[in-house]
Amino acid sequence: MPRGTGTCESGQARRTTNPMTDDELLDAARAVREKAHCPYSGFHVGAAILDENGNVHVGCNVENAAYPQGSCAETGAIAAMVAAGGKRIVTIAVAGGGPNRTRACTPCGGCRQRINEFADENTRVIVKDDDGDWNTYTVDDLLPASFHL
Ligand code: THU
Repeated sequence: MPRGTGTCESGQARRTTNPMTDDELLDAARAVREKAHCPYSGFHVGAAILDENGNVHVGCNVENAAYPQGSCAETGAIAAMVAAGGKRIVTIAVAGGGPNRTRACTPCGGCRQRINEFADENTRVIVKDDDGDWNTYTVDDLLPASFHL
């Protein structure tokens, strides 16, 4: 799995005609992270998806006083993609952490399965912390031997 420090630019986001770079997608995840409703955990998460049409869809975690009713950032971004007509995740960027610090937060187990639903072998999951350390994963890295019907 590629990793590094500084600019997160593997070039794969430019495979298509879409000009959205990995760092721009990470910036979108960081921006929506600020909208998170997370009074119970204090853990703010944002996710941004680049779909097969070159469109970007974002989501943040939305917690609830009835804890299990809360939803993850990735879940919100996937719902936005599907509602907009997107079918495949080309890249998903995730940014999570406390209110003032973003760490390289990989998706939870349930969200790995949700991402898998709309992924292919080229789909990338990208994370980056405030020090500029970044990682990119395939969905198979995060969810090996995954369930399929
Ligand atoms: N969270 C996400 O939004 N995405 C993840 O992949 C991990 C966890 C949220 C759920 C909850 O609101 C908070 O982070 C703490 O678990």
